[in-house]
Amino acid sequence: MTTLAKCICTSNHGFAQYAQEEIRRLFPAAKFSLLVPTEVFLFETAADLQEVFTTLKEQEPIFLRHIQPVQQEWELSRSDEDLDALQAWLADLPSQGLVQPGDKIAVQVRKEEKADVPYAPFAVKAALDEVITGELQAEPVVRYADRIVSVYVSANKLYAGISAPADNLSDWSGGAIRFHKEEDQISRAKFKLLEAEQRFGLDFSCARAALDIGAAPGGWTSFLLERGLRVTAIDPAAMHPSLLGNPMLTVYKKNAGDVKLRQDEFDLLVCDMSWSPRQMARLVADLLYALQSGGTAIITVKLMHKKPFQTIRELMQVFESSMFLIKAKQLFHNREELTLYLQKL
Ligand SMILES: C[S@@+](CC[C@H](N)C(=O)[O-])C[C@H]1O[C@@H](n2cnc3c(N)ncnc32)[C@H](O)[C@@H]1O
Repeated sequence: MTTLAKCICTSNHGFAQYAQEEIRRLFPAAKFSLLVPTEVFLFETAADLQEVFTTLKEQEPIFLRHIQPVQQEWELSRSDEDLDALQAWLADLPSQGLVQPGDKIAVQVRKEEKADVPYAPFAVKAALDEVITGELQAEPVVRYADRIVSVYVSANKLYAGISAPADNLSDWSGGAIRFHKEEDQISRAKFKLLEAEQRFGLDFSCARAALDIGAAPGGWTSFLLERGLRVTAIDPAAMHPSLLGNPMLTVYKKNAGDVKLRQDEFDLLVCDMSWSPRQMARLVADLLYALQSGGTAIITVKLMHKKPFQTIRELMQVFESSMFLIKAKQLFHNREELTLYLQKL
């Protein structure tokens, strides 16, 4: 018997068509329908749900930020009956072997702006948490869950599903990872590197010396210094005054093309130059002699002309003799860009 997998997929605003293109390469019979233009869509294909999750984890699409299964859907009643239906669905999951007593379960609720319902997302969560502690004898949690219950309220339907956090590609609701903004934070750009560290499973504190190209005003530099690294920052623009005088920091207030570094001086190279990808790639390639073999590179790529796959191919032509692409991902904190995780050969 053919089973039908149905999921809600989320990308950054403006990038859903690229996520769909990538999914269609993996599932040629995929059918899509938009829920929120350019960012949230339904994906259906004749396949087992676990097979869909496994394929998407192994060949993770660059522009797919988050995926949640739809195992049940209802027309909205726009009354508390919706909450009753959700509670009954959740209470029945143990009989299907989808929940065990003692499981840590996070409930994530998303509601479209145009969904005209009398209950707020937190009321949906509260109703489901009641079932989790009651009938399911499980533990409601916010993070580090064993299972995530995902509820999505669209303009006319209610969708629900349960999955392991890793299957969703992100354990944050809709993949919208949030970091706490510190009072003395130099730039929001810091979140991009923080997210890259988590997304790519890295620990920058294991590195010794980092080269930061296009470093000003210094969000990334400050983050790497906090991680205990020695940092060399290159930028013709000024670094934030709070960084100057740090004995672990060397600043070249110059264009990256005019800097001379020592061979194999660094084990981490980061670049957030927000410039033409081709010119950025040439500048980085010319400084790669300073990165040790096996060293990590994290590079943001500005998607100038909205041809992302071609842009990545062109960049990798520049890097192919010197770097191996481990992963390309559009992070939540990337706007019109994506992030590359590479290793020096
Ligand atoms: C988006 S900002 C970097 C933000 C930084 N990552 C942070 O966390 O504060 C881009 C920087 O790249 C620098 N840049 C552009 N072209 C450059 C070049 N050829 N050499 C060095 N820096 C360059 C710009 O001066 C600008 O400060």
